Amino acid sequence: KRVAILISGRGSNMSALIEAAKAPDYPAEIVGVFSNRAAAKGLETAAAEGIATKSLAQSSYESREAFDDAIGQVLEAWQVDIVCLAGFMRIFTPRFVERWQGRIINIHPSLLPLYRGLDTHARALADKVAEHGCSVHFVTPGLDEGPVILQAKVPVLSDDTPETLAARVLVEEHRLYPEALRKLAAGEVRP
Ligand code: GRF
Repeated sequence: KRVAILISGRGSNMSALIEAAKAPDYPAEIVGVFSNRAAAKGLETAAAEGIATKSLAQSSYESREAFDDAIGQVLEAWQVDIVCLAGFMRIFTPRFVERWQGRIINIHPSLLPLYRGLDTHARALADKVAEHGCSVHFVTPGLDEGPVILQAKVPVLSDDTPETLAARVLVEEHRLYPEALRKLAAGEVRP
């Protein structure tokens, strides 16, 4: 399966997917990395791996629909089968999501359905939860609402800060996302 990764920043989950896809028996190939921010660090990392990259800015388009159409054209040019969102800080229009439904997935740093949206680690700490984690889920029009493919849990420690907790969760993200993409690409999961 041909996979595009969509990022807005650092791209550590992107790197985890790129590394996993190097295994000869991995059922997906990373064919392109797109960013809605030209300054995204992950674009350099992907280019250094010899992967096609592209960035477009929302500000160049007259509407959210027009920007989504432009992203869709990039994905079509790359002949993408599956889209992986990895720190992509933008909400798609329903039309775009419906077009890719069942073939677009995201990683979110919480145990969904808990803590949809931003600042998940600080909110989990404020609630004094005993465990936290991350989820890979199908993208649907509702933010962080689609069916969960896989989750990983970590303990919350008494002296955790949002940063230490985020770092513990991130280790699990880097393991979980490649496994979830493997399952989807191999046809082992459906929305
Ligand atoms: C990750 O925590 C991911 O779960 C969230 O945004 C962060 C992206 O980090 N959606 P990176 O760009 O993959 O390093």
